[in-house]
Amino acid sequence: MDYNKLYKEKLTTAEEAVKHIPSNSRVVTAHATGEPTVIVDAMVDNYLQYENVEVLHLVAMGNCGYVRPEMKGHLRHNALFVGAGTREAVNDGRADFTPSFFYQVPKLFRTVLPVDVAMIQVTPPDENGNCSFGVSCDFTKPATEAAKIVIAQVNDQMPYIYGDNFINIKDIDYVVEVSKPLLELKPPTIGDVEKAIGEYCASLVDDGSTLQLGIGAIPDAVLLFLKNKKDLGIHTEMFSDGIVDLFNSGAINNSKKSLYPGKMIATFLMGSKKLYDFVNKNEIVELYPVDYVNDPITIMKNNKMVSINSALQVDLMGQVCAEAIGLKQFSGVGGQVDYVRGTMMSEDGLGKSIIAMPSTAAKGKLSRIVPFLDHGSCVTTSRTDVQYIVTEYGIANLRGKNLKQRAKELINIAHPDFRDDLKKEYAQRFNLD
Ligand code: COA
Repeated sequence: MDYNKLYKEKLTTAEEAVKHIPSNSRVVTAHATGEPTVIVDAMVDNYLQYENVEVLHLVAMGNCGYVRPEMKGHLRHNALFVGAGTREAVNDGRADFTPSFFYQVPKLFRTVLPVDVAMIQVTPPDENGNCSFGVSCDFTKPATEAAKIVIAQVNDQMPYIYGDNFINIKDIDYVVEVSKPLLELKPPTIGDVEKAIGEYCASLVDDGSTLQLGIGAIPDAVLLFLKNKKDLGIHTEMFSDGIVDLFNSGAINNSKKSLYPGKMIATFLMGSKKLYDFVNKNEIVELYPVDYVNDPITIMKNNKMVSINSALQVDLMGQVCAEAIGLKQFSGVGGQVDYVRGTMMSEDGLGKSIIAMPSTAAKGKLSRIVPFLDHGSCVTTSRTDVQYIVTEYGIANLRGKNLKQRAKELINIAHPDFRDDLKKEYAQRFNLD
């Protein structure tokens, strides 16, 4: 097949491509830094041509124009994860939120939320006509396979990343060519609190462990304290620049991994150009769809698996809320529970899940360890699934502990300013004098 010819036949402009989005349809856009911003913005600019189009994705890092008030009746966002650009719209009722475990999202797109249009960003085709999904394999590849129409922003600056991370040019309907730097994730600020948390978390990581780390200051702080470890491996939802530094330090070599030895496995990537250059055509990095990478049944096959994620509140029973402040949706379930469960189910029995958070929020005014979750808040990780909770004051291991022991462990790692109130609640709850 002449892939070059095929490619040229599909070339069009962003404005023309988005005319093929039908009214009364469901559009899925690629994830996070993989967002095809040029075609998404073209859809928003041309919103008057659509009626009742639902726009779905998880982390959004672009302009999020589809949540603007004037989109009413034309474009409506349904968030599977809420971020800075979509939070206000979801909490004002201009957009919707649908809870889902990350690894289940592809199944939603194959069943109850069928996809009409996938808007993706890929590399130019290789000699076999295959375009790499680059930094966003996750739900993007499965949604594309489920979609009736595929509009691709082909970007020569998208890194070419291996794994089950390709689409053939023959499966793309419209190609919009761009040459544009990818969206980048700003490095977080790591303060003393994050460093203390990072050090406690690192103390739970043995040599030869395989790691999953979430996004943000705490996971990046953990990495700072892993430099002296040996034979670490990566099997994670996503990774960022910090992993590149740890790999270059020699602490990560993936040699002891029981699943994909020698490889770093993820489902999406977010970082700066440094990360994108590192992963481009790098044979040790492979991306697979999220319904495989984040499936607890895949995760459990990794020996010495350690997952590290964060939270907004934890109650005295160990119920974790990582996604809401009262009724306000702050983020989403993401892959937290996928990894908490995958580590709990670990075949070697050595899996560990860590939820790490500062002991306070709102500049020290609120304790994150609370007697009860805020009215209206939801449980992300249940008390039955939870294992380690870490703050800058230490480590609470809740697995196998009764409710009284859990409360005591959690009070010990709460901020000292809030411990007396928590102790009063403890005494009342357990009928102690
Ligand atoms: N009450 C009121 N405000 C609170 C609060 C609480 N209990 N907890 C946090 N806040 C405030 C903070 O003070 C902060 O506001 P500020 O920036 O004005 O100080 C804001 O809410 C964000 O809190 P922070 O803890 O800094 O958020 P984060 O960016 O570190 O993200 C999670 C933490 C939990 C939201 C994030 O990890 C997440 O979305 N997790 C769920 C998904 C997941 O775990 N995925 C795993 C793999 S990526």
